Amino acid sequence: QIFGKSRKNSASINIDIESEWTPFNAAIQAFSQHQWQAGPIVNGVTLDGEQHAITAPYNRAESVGQVAFSSASQVAQAIDVASEAYPEWSQVAASERGECLQRLADLLELHTGELVALCHREAGKTIQDSIDEIREAVDFCRFYGEQASSELASAKSIKSFDGSTKQLSYQGRGVFACISPWNFPLAIFLGQVSAALAAGNTVVAKPAEQTSLIAYRAIELMLEAGIPAGAIQLLPGTGAEVGATLTTDVRIAGVAFTGSTETAQRINRSLVARDCEAVPFIAETGGQNAMIVDSTALPEQVVRDVVRSAFASAGQRCSALRVLFVQADIADRIITLIKGAMAELSVGRPELHSTDVGPVIDIAAKEKLLTHIEALKSQSKLVAQAQLSDECKLGDFVAPTAFEISSIDILKNENFGPILHIVRFKANEIDQVVDQINHTGFGLTLGVHSRNERTYCRIEQRARVGNCYINRDQVGAVVGVQPFGGQGLSGTGPKAGGPHYLYRFTKDVLSA
Ligand code: NAD
Ligand code: ALA
Repeated sequence: QIFGKSRKNSASINIDIESEWTPFNAAIQAFSQHQWQAGPIVNGVTLDGEQHAITAPYNRAESVGQVAFSSASQVAQAIDVASEAYPEWSQVAASERGECLQRLADLLELHTGELVALCHREAGKTIQDSIDEIREAVDFCRFYGEQASSELASAKSIKSFDGSTKQLSYQGRGVFACISPWNFPLAIFLGQVSAALAAGNTVVAKPAEQTSLIAYRAIELMLEAGIPAGAIQLLPGTGAEVGATLTTDVRIAGVAFTGSTETAQRINRSLVARDCEAVPFIAETGGQNAMIVDSTALPEQVVRDVVRSAFASAGQRCSALRVLFVQADIADRIITLIKGAMAELSVGRPELHSTDVGPVIDIAAKEKLLTHIEALKSQSKLVAQAQLSDECKLGDFVAPTAFEISSIDILKNENFGPILHIVRFKANEIDQVVDQINHTGFGLTLGVHSRNERTYCRIEQRARVGNCYINRDQVGAVVGVQPFGGQGLSGTGPKAGGPHYLYRFTKDVLSA
């Protein structure tokens, strides 16, 4: 059975074709100096709060706007409003909720120029990554909207042993807290929120503090799409203050979280400590993602996929490649090609077509990554480091760097940036390699390059990962086509953009 085969993903814009790029670029340029304002949105009203300046990651002298962070009393107020709105929103027909999300998707497409400009300036994404970001957000809204209309709208009939028929229907659970990261500031933010709303919940959303402006703009468009003001509340602010206050409130009926494993564990502990019913916790977290390359692989294809998987989006994808295992027989050749490809990488201002790698999100991320690079320089072999241009001094950039290391075991944490670690292995060690990857406890993505079907099938079966990619890159899962999510320390499932995600936001009720 092919799931959702009538649905289409949103179309891209080819920035290399002049006739497509010129009008699109004009729409982006209209927002090149724009200053966005954001703050808590409670019951459709923007509230005041302590102001924080947002600057561009690629140039800290460039102001992007201001955001007011939420106070503890505004968190409580937002949960009050969402709790009061829940009975009415949960009674809105699932097909009507789905239609609201389809209208939202249309509005996102209508405002693509502005959203690309905002994503690029606030999160520092390249233009291509920003386009892909908006498309993914559109796809999530259409995907969950359609699923609500087609699967949640009517009860499922279940035949009983006595010949009678029972009805199984799906309802929302109450107020869902949606907590999202900065690395997919629109797509993951709206993926969580649209699923929770589609399933009949009201939502209190807390975006990452680094990317509140685009989340605020998304909520404005949601209200314009007809989603009632009571159904969706926005609380910008830090995780330690706003996030923790939100998730410890006993009125929260479920939490959708995407971010680091450490934060997920903290939220999980706080949910368990609450003196109330157990609630669903959907967590999509970090990875120590590997790629295994055996001697039958095509070197040029491997290198293309390694460079994209490790360095695209400045390595700031949860799916990104961190540890490349290469069979010793071809390791020298692969490493030589990687060095060559890294020498060609253009690191710099993300608005330029020629830029391959933009900045990292902030100074804290940059310092953490540089500390890791410095530590490895003294214990491991530096393979290559890309050049930073002078303009990189204006912002928070980290040069793509590759090391040869002795074992994956020396990596204790996820290094969330453009750093690749390479490990050699012998032909008879493939099972041990997979075991070492499993032993990290993470299980998000795994890439395999081999033309030997027995080898890649064996690896796929032995590996404990959510998404295994054979003979291709391992980033950029497509909504509805490559449902995405991990195992173990990488997440609880169900996979985002897959057939089961929406159901986790519901309770099912049997009427006999
Ligand atoms: P993070 O854990 O620092 O923050 C994520 C969100 O949690 C933010 O909104 C933050 O404010 C909030 N938060 C922090 N502490 C909190 C607390 N105590 N209570 C409630 N909320 C809290 O992660 P990040 O740096 O924003 O994002 C990068 C991480 O996200 C990486 O580890 C990456 O692998 C992971 N990620 C995973 C996926 C996936 O699908 N598996 C996708 C994207 C990112
Ligand atoms: N879904 C994102 C990817 O696959 C995280 O890169």
